[in-house]
Amino acid sequence: MIPGDGIGPEVISAALDPIEQAAAKHGVTLELERLPYGADHYLKTRETLPDRAFDHLRDDADAILLGAIGDPRVPGNEHARDILLGLRFRLDLYVNFRPVTLLHPDLTPLRGNARRIDFVIFRENTEGVYLGRGRIGDDEYVAEEINTAKGVDRIIRAAFEWAQDHGKTRVTMSDKANAVPAHKIWQETFRRVAAEFGRIDAEHRYVDALAMELVREPERFQVIVTNNLYGDILSDLGAALVGGLGLAASANIHPGRGGAGLFEPVHGSAPPLAGKAIANPMAAVLAGALMLEQLGAPEAARDLERAVKETLAAGVRTPDIGGKATTGDVARAIGRAL
Ligand code: NAD
Ligand code: IPM
Ligand code: MN
Repeated sequence: MIPGDGIGPEVISAALDPIEQAAAKHGVTLELERLPYGADHYLKTRETLPDRAFDHLRDDADAILLGAIGDPRVPGNEHARDILLGLRFRLDLYVNFRPVTLLHPDLTPLRGNARRIDFVIFRENTEGVYLGRGRIGDDEYVAEEINTAKGVDRIIRAAFEWAQDHGKTRVTMSDKANAVPAHKIWQETFRRVAAEFGRIDAEHRYVDALAMELVREPERFQVIVTNNLYGDILSDLGAALVGGLGLAASANIHPGRGGAGLFEPVHGSAPPLAGKAIANPMAAVLAGALMLEQLGAPEAARDLERAVKETLAAGVRTPDIGGKATTGDVARAIGRAL
């Protein structure tokens, strides 16, 4: 565990009880270790994620559960570049899997009854503008966007394979090829990989149009695959469709390979909420469910998701979703539902 900054430690501490309880109920014991990396540690020691810690995570951990990294005292966010982006890049966790599921009908701000919002975003996680390549000159600040044949192929393939394994019938690829010439690689790769999955409807949307359509008719989407930056933005939009960042979880994984994945809420450290015991721990709990699934305990994961749904239905909710409960109240209610 890397609880990290702001509300990170609060949501991780709260989420841990239900996560361990769900695991235990299905015969899984978690051996937990808490690592100190984050803004406090960085400001005290100038260490972000030391090599020995990286090696330890790579060689000894089965999963990494992270709270959030980000602190106003580190305005350049350099510790997040090493800890969060560093783990994604250096562990080659090329899939950032971000489900968007409506867990209770009253959580969506959209009008209409019985909305069935349930899609996943496959966000490319090792390339794009996030690599930070480019140069800063006197009057030109250049950001390069890296799209490699290997990187684009493997994320698109992962999306189709997941769709096939989960009985989905449509994959939507999103880019901005009408303005960014380099995005031709997304178009070409998508066409080629889609041809191998003839039973799945392969469609394309420019990212601006997709943002609009996601608000207007999210029900029609099943699997969305896109680059690192667009996936970041669309996943916050997706979260807003189903109750907000307090409920959105993500898994950073390298499918088919052993070694640790990185599991985390989609949200950040929310500095204004820190220390008030009102942060919603459900995103962290659901990140725990994604982790248990990856660790080979899918029944424990389903159980945890069910318990979150029941807690929402019972109205035990933090203020971000209209309730008065504290972080701890919600975690205890999830525990009781288990
Ligand atoms: P944020 O996700 O921290 O907050 C955005 C909004 O959502 C705020 O209104 C916040 O109060 C609300 N919110 C987020 N999580 C919530 C929760 N669990 N319960 C209730 N409300 C919640 O995004 P931001 O304000 O843009 O970023 C704050 C810091 O976090 C920055 O330093 C940013 O870089 C960092 N960040 C880190 C991660 C990560 O570690 N994975 C993700 C996003 C942002
Ligand atoms: C996320 C966050 C990070 C990202 C930031 C903190 C670098 O927004 O995990 O969604 O952009 O990937
Ligand atoms: Mn984000």
